[in-house]
Amino acid sequence: MTQDELKQAVARAAIAYVVDGEIIGVGTGSTANFFIDELATIKDRIKGTVASSEATAARLRGHGIAVYDLNDVTGIAVYIDGADEITASGAMIKGGGAALTREKIVASVSRQFVCIADGSKLVQTMGAFALPVEVLPMARTAVMRRLAALGGQPRLRLKPGTEQAFITDNGGEIIDVAGLSITDPVALEQEINQIVGVIAVGLFAQRGADVCLLGTSEGVKTLTF
Ligand code: A5P
Repeated sequence: MTQDELKQAVARAAIAYVVDGEIIGVGTGSTANFFIDELATIKDRIKGTVASSEATAARLRGHGIAVYDLNDVTGIAVYIDGADEITASGAMIKGGGAALTREKIVASVSRQFVCIADGSKLVQTMGAFALPVEVLPMARTAVMRRLAALGGQPRLRLKPGTEQAFITDNGGEIIDVAGLSITDPVALEQEINQIVGVIAVGLFAQRGADVCLLGTSEGVKTLTF
């Protein structure tokens, strides 16, 4: 199976976690896009969605699915999203698609987090994928110095094909930190959260996944944490 077929398989399997009549939190990225297309086939069963990015909101609306502002909903039944890396205990690196801050906010108010990922995302120790950190632009250099002191190699994410900083939906910039071996993700998440100027770090360990649907050549495996 191709990687896209594995993503499609987990996106389809995630429909079983959608709660009828409820608000569903929807992630960002290529796997989440497959999920949105699956969700469209049962859109009349749900009340609506909260999106983790402008791109996701546009795709949901394109399918005629209602998108609510998070401030207008009282709770989210389930949050469904991909990951860049996930461990056997449900901690994740996210933010390859630059939506980490809104993803973290939506995940934090969701009763259940279902991660959908192809098998290549399961790792023993996170850090081979550079850790995304969203920062306020004025704090960029100061934060990069602090991240370097933690042993990483921070690099400002650029808009593809340019020398300009990539700007997020929130007006922030992304620093990708390579070279970290993340043996204690909860502690590192707390430490980076405390750096002044950081908006959010793409470590989802304090609030990790509750379930991971992992696409493998033998089928979709369900990991529960
Ligand atoms: C978006 O900001 C990310 O957190 C994505 O969830 C993550 O990058 C996974 O993306 P893919 O589904 O495209 O691999």
